[in-house]
Amino acid sequence: MAGIVLVGAQWGDEGKGKITDLIADDFDYVVRYQGGNNAGHTVIHGGRTLKLHLIPSGVLHDNKTCIIGNGVVFDPFVFLQEMEELQKGNLLQSNTRIYISERAHLIMPYHRSLDQAREAKTSGKKIGTTGRGIGPAYEDKAARTGIRVGDLYEENLFREMLRHNLEEKNFLLKNYYNEKPLDEEEIAAQYLDCAQKIKSYVADTSLILDHEIRQGKKILFEGAQGSHLDIDHGTYPYVTSSNTVSANASSGSGIGPNAITKVVGICKAYTTRVGEGPFPTELNDETGNHMQQVGQEFGATTGRKRRCGWLDMVLVRQAVRVSGIGALAITKLDVLTGLDKLKICVGYKYANDQFTHAAPASIRILSQCQPVYEEFDGWKEDILYARDMNELPVNARKYLRRLEELAEAKIVLVSVGAGREETIILEDPFINKLL
Ligand code: GDP
Ligand code: IMO
Ligand code: MG
Repeated sequence: MAGIVLVGAQWGDEGKGKITDLIADDFDYVVRYQGGNNAGHTVIHGGRTLKLHLIPSGVLHDNKTCIIGNGVVFDPFVFLQEMEELQKGNLLQSNTRIYISERAHLIMPYHRSLDQAREAKTSGKKIGTTGRGIGPAYEDKAARTGIRVGDLYEENLFREMLRHNLEEKNFLLKNYYNEKPLDEEEIAAQYLDCAQKIKSYVADTSLILDHEIRQGKKILFEGAQGSHLDIDHGTYPYVTSSNTVSANASSGSGIGPNAITKVVGICKAYTTRVGEGPFPTELNDETGNHMQQVGQEFGATTGRKRRCGWLDMVLVRQAVRVSGIGALAITKLDVLTGLDKLKICVGYKYANDQFTHAAPASIRILSQCQPVYEEFDGWKEDILYARDMNELPVNARKYLRRLEELAEAKIVLVSVGAGREETIILEDPFINKLL
């Protein structure tokens, strides 16, 4: 039995989709356990680029079971749209199985409306959300007013819950946000119709996983977002509304933590962030532009330009700590090619020259933090074709060695391009070593 969690070590978009797709063959199950269609995971398959928001990135492989766990907030229409795209592209194998937890909370139209209305109203203080209704859906879950996937199959109960919710949400939409109220009958009809279309996928996924874990099956837990978007451990309030750290793989899929054998952190060779919030190593200059353009740093969900900056090891070390990361996969090293000098942030200076290795909880202090850098020489050689550490320029190896030292976690993989094959696997076969 082996359960491996892949978790983002920064602010999301570290390349979780590529790495999940790359190693999925070695697993029987691929599980999403938190977040929703705020995620955008890019997989390049047969020359085609796919952006998956809800369905786990292992779906393209033969003989995989993909699970959308109870910790996910689930938009059934996005699910159907994604399924249709996969089917149209002939990308689903005949032996692919997909299950959705009956306990996953539904994203309802009023969640989206509230998310967007709130962001529009609080222009000075907005979070820069994806507008997909994620926050309001998790709010209802915590408030115990949420509607779960399984509730769709008890029509009277579903209608009653919808009516109860809409009473409050429409009041808010109309009177506080000046938005159009939503129509109860229209929503009920849409969701009840959709319920029939997804019925064959709905299951008690905790039971399925438990059974399979007992059979010795291998499970890959695919994290969404990143450690610093975690609602407890991230740069609150500029975070998403779920726990993105590895521990949530357990509660978000209904299995015990003892089913998890290893946590792999996915870490970009520099840092990016979409949306608002402090970003100590952000670069609003030519180097930042280089990263944004060469790295094609556009949000996979909203298309927004991602903010870019130097690698911040204060953040990565914290991710290693809070997620128990034992191994690191470094992505997008190729994007740094051509820069004369590279910097790694090893700590922060703040008020009166105090120095810290740990990110302060106060968003006010974090916003004032000045990064303390170590500088490295860059490299000019194209590294897209490197398949072994020895094929990397010596300066690239130095950069990675220092990263590894500072992280106190072993680098097991270096990605040098977006394609599956553009990868250096340090421990061969590294997956077997992890299992
Ligand atoms: P995720 O949300 O963590 O799955 O990451 P995204 O898919 O949102 O963003 C990562 C982007 O970088 C995608 O466009 C990937 O195709 C791309 N990518 C992943 N690894 C590499 C790499 O090593 N080099 C380059 N140049 N692109 C990469
Ligand atoms: P993946 O899985 C990067 C960010 C949003 C916003 C904040 C809150 O592709 O790495 P939300 O809609 O979740 O309430 O927005 O979180 N955000 C992401 N940033 N990658 C993601 O997912 C993200 N999911 C949410 O930009 O700042
Ligand atoms: Mg993404």
